Amino acid sequence: MQSLKGLVALVTGGASGFGLSTAERLLKQGARVVLCDLNTSKGQEVASRLGGNSVFVSTDVTSETDVKKALDVCSDKFKKLDLLVNCAGISVLSKTYDFGNKTPHCLEKFTKLLEVNTVGTFNTIRLAVGLMSKNSPDEDGQKGVIVNLTSTHAFEGGMGHIAFAASSGCIASMTLPIARDLSTEGIRCCAIATGHFDIPYYRSLPEKFRRFIPSVVPFPKGLGNPEEFAHLVQTIVDNKMLNGEVIRLDAALRIEI
Ligand SMILES: NC(=O)c1ccc[n+]([C@@H]2O[C@H](COP(=O)([O-])OP(=O)(O)OC[C@H]3O[C@@H](n4cnc5c(N)ncnc54)[C@H](O)[C@@H]3O)[C@@H](O)[C@H]2O)c1
Repeated sequence: MQSLKGLVALVTGGASGFGLSTAERLLKQGARVVLCDLNTSKGQEVASRLGGNSVFVSTDVTSETDVKKALDVCSDKFKKLDLLVNCAGISVLSKTYDFGNKTPHCLEKFTKLLEVNTVGTFNTIRLAVGLMSKNSPDEDGQKGVIVNLTSTHAFEGGMGHIAFAASSGCIASMTLPIARDLSTEGIRCCAIATGHFDIPYYRSLPEKFRRFIPSVVPFPKGLGNPEEFAHLVQTIVDNKMLNGEVIRLDAALRIEI
């Protein structure tokens, strides 16, 4: 098992949810973390709480300038980048067409979600690998690892989740070609497709879904905890055979609603 001690990670969406849990785990295991999140997030407060091995950089993942600035902080403060975890994301709950109100899905919201979740993920990857590739390869020729957050909506998109399903599908599909593109540099890329987790988004769903979803999860029953996502990030770092793969983290849930 490869130790996380001494690794430098950049975590997008690091102020909340999956990103925050990942940052906390990495720091506990001795890594140093650059937390990237919007300036409206609690990133600064979070970094102060997490201590000196973390730093917050106000970053919109869709902006080339912002991501470059975050990478500069990474390289100035910690001298390298070993791990990129892309967790920044937004969600939209809306059907393709609202037949009650006779209104189509808002195109702006659809586009915005794809821009943040998918384009933002790719923007961060394409810029971060330049810095990662400067690392000296380890004994296996590895220079770095990328882990992207996606969702099981990539495979079984739920009603009202068209935008999120589309972005999740894009992220899932990007995983293998990115892994292939970066293979010459010894950089791996995997994605974690989360099922239903106890995250703010889930709490925002209509009551009937909140009661229904945990009841149909085969085992373990109920909702996942973002800490389990963070644990899998660590496993991906540890296991060098994991590459180009989208790993479902969903307690065997297959749902069509
Ligand atoms: N099953 C599902 O439906 C499912 C599963 C997993 C994730 N998700 C979605 O994935 C996303 C991440 O989940 P979470 O629980 O960590 O959410 P979260 O809202 O707790 O955290 C997401 C973070 O991303 C940040 N962010 C948003 N836009 C950004 C941008 N342009 N640049 C940088 N940071 C940005 C936010 O400020 C926030 O801190 C959410 O949109 C969530 O709804 C949904």
